[in-house]
Amino acid sequence: MISTLEDYRAFYAEEIRAVAGLRSEVLVHAFATVPRERFLGPGPWKIASLGMNMSQTVRYLATADADPRRVYHNVLISLDESRQLNNGQPSALAAWLDALCLKQGERFVHIGAGVGYYTAIAAEAVGPGGSVLAIEVEPELASRARRNLQPWKNVEVVSGDGSRYDPGPADAIFVNAGVTHPAALWLDRLKPGGRLLYPLTFEAGGAGGKGCMILVKRDGERALVGIHADCLAPLRRRNGAKAASARTANPPRVALSPELEAKATRAREAEAQGAAYVCGCDYETIVRRGAHCT
Ligand SMILES: C[S@@+](CC[C@H](N)C(=O)[O-])C[C@H]1O[C@@H](n2cnc3c(N)ncnc32)[C@H](O)[C@@H]1O
Repeated sequence: MISTLEDYRAFYAEEIRAVAGLRSEVLVHAFATVPRERFLGPGPWKIASLGMNMSQTVRYLATADADPRRVYHNVLISLDESRQLNNGQPSALAAWLDALCLKQGERFVHIGAGVGYYTAIAAEAVGPGGSVLAIEVEPELASRARRNLQPWKNVEVVSGDGSRYDPGPADAIFVNAGVTHPAALWLDRLKPGGRLLYPLTFEAGGAGGKGCMILVKRDGERALVGIHADCLAPLRRRNGAKAASARTANPPRVALSPELEAKATRAREAEAQGAAYVCGCDYETIVRRGAHCT
């Protein structure tokens, strides 16, 4: 019978494994052990729900109480409702971290770390012999992340603009906020074999946008592996303005596979009609085709 907090975490981790198709045992273990409630602040918490309404309209429902077992579901949890800022959906973040194939001892950079929950998950994946740099533009969120991440001695949190802050050489960079193109700095800082994952955002829409997750691997030639995602929050400057590398009126064209181009077109058409483009199940397929984990 599932009753203790540890049981709930363990079940949650198995659920994420199944939904996200996780290949990394270390990530499954991280989801089973990192305490999400530590990062969210005191409950009750507001859980974002789409319910039967598959539009982008997010409704927040408060948990019945502050029992930490309430946060172990595959749901977004509000950090600041007025700004639609959430602790992201576990299965999506898990799948993205899995796609980065983090290894013990690696250097990982998390841009847009929020309150640090997924930074901690990644810190477990690179282990005590690895290191993590978390960059968060909002000073208040950065200081929360710094506090929350104290037990992870392999993590450093900086408050700054991730499109400009030089992270040094990295094995993996994860941009956790929507952009129209990768900053040259991110590409330049990838070590040989390094991976960069970022949400290429086609269209602005409400608090988020529509786009694809793009995985770039530096291995002589830069292979693009894309996955579709919905609702991506834009990268911003510290003063709240959109970063140069975030949306522009005419985002630069990026070469996409025919399948992704078709998805982008469907996303644009759906949005123009006021409908949501709900992401399909192609993520796994595309990542497998990339065969980038060696
Ligand atoms: C989608 S949220 C990610 C939240 C995080 N995954 C979590 O669960 O707590 C995007 C985050 O990126 C941050 N951000 C936006 N622009 C940024 C920038 N230029 N540099 C660093 N962080 C940025 C936002 O403040 C926000 O915390």
